[in-house]
Amino acid sequence: MSIIILAIESSCDDTAAAVIRDGRVISNVVADQEIHARYGGVVPELASRAHQANIVPVVDAALKESGVSADQLSAIAFTRGPGLMGSLMVGVAFAKGLAISHNIPLIDVHHLHAHVLAHFAEPPMPEFPFLCLLVSGGHTQIMLIHDHLNLELLGSTQDDAAGEAFDKTGKLLGLGYPAGPEIDRIARSGSPVFDLPHPRLPGYQFSFSGIKTAIRYFLEAEVRNNPGFIQESLPDICASIQHHIVEILLDKLILAARDTQISQVAIAGGVSANSALRQRFEEVGRKEGWTTHIPPLAYSTDNAAMIGITGYYKYLAGELASMDIRPEARIPLDR
Ligand code: KG4
Ligand code: ZN
Repeated sequence: MSIIILAIESSCDDTAAAVIRDGRVISNVVADQEIHARYGGVVPELASRAHQANIVPVVDAALKESGVSADQLSAIAFTRGPGLMGSLMVGVAFAKGLAISHNIPLIDVHHLHAHVLAHFAEPPMPEFPFLCLLVSGGHTQIMLIHDHLNLELLGSTQDDAAGEAFDKTGKLLGLGYPAGPEIDRIARSGSPVFDLPHPRLPGYQFSFSGIKTAIRYFLEAEVRNNPGFIQESLPDICASIQHHIVEILLDKLILAARDTQISQVAIAGGVSANSALRQRFEEVGRKEGWTTHIPPLAYSTDNAAMIGITGYYKYLAGELASMDIRPEARIPLDR
């Protein structure tokens, strides 16, 4: 008999649902919340209200698209955290209600674990052990993946995440939220001509908060000389920020791959949608002799397919949640 899992993701500002049959994605629906663009960032209270409005139609659409009815489901997987508490609560409460009414088990999923297992949504899949650079709006870390359920954290950011570096510098440039995709688009017509300070942290640690400050001082000085500087040089500024972030990320990934002698290497998380990161990762991979793994765009940014894939492997291992499980805004990933 098939194992069919309905997955729900509501950790931040996207409401998502997917249906996974025997480890394959058969539907994947995401409703994003445009409301936050107006405020230059995610407003938690608005996010949870939008999740409440979106969750029923999004789950309905995922079921309809999959051709599966709710009584055929084997289990419900949901994001337990990390994320915004109010947003997580909407997904958890909905998942519990559905599990109780259909008398099927619940599976709690760690959002970052799911970003990594997005690589198992479609072949070619990485071979174990592999390294994964996980870059999202809230996290930046290098992980050693021993198997589907065994992840080891090698290093992470000491302050801002790579996605935050894109979003915060973008805000200084007057770009909308999230600024990452905008910087990516604008950078295509520019060159990385402006130098930025390169943080020197030991091991596999990252620091991104300095970039925002460096950009602010740089812009203030340039605008004092030429008030039109930002408008005139926007593509070059975006290309410089992007180049800088990508090189910091890849430097540490190269270090980790050389130290561990692991040549299966992956990137994951929202920032892995960045075109420069994807391109440079391939180039570096060729030079270093890696087998590189880049998730399809639909599985890079937040989605429920990755929650369902992770739920599937947990289901196979018998790792189910109890009905009194609660969301957690912060949960360590090391298991
Ligand atoms: O993984 P994700 O969708 O949500 C979190 O779990 O945080 O990541 C969102 C982050 C945002 O900071 C957004 O600006 C960034 O991913 N992002 C990008 C691109 N697409 C999304 N950053 C740079 N270039 C992109 N193309
Ligand atoms: Zn995410």
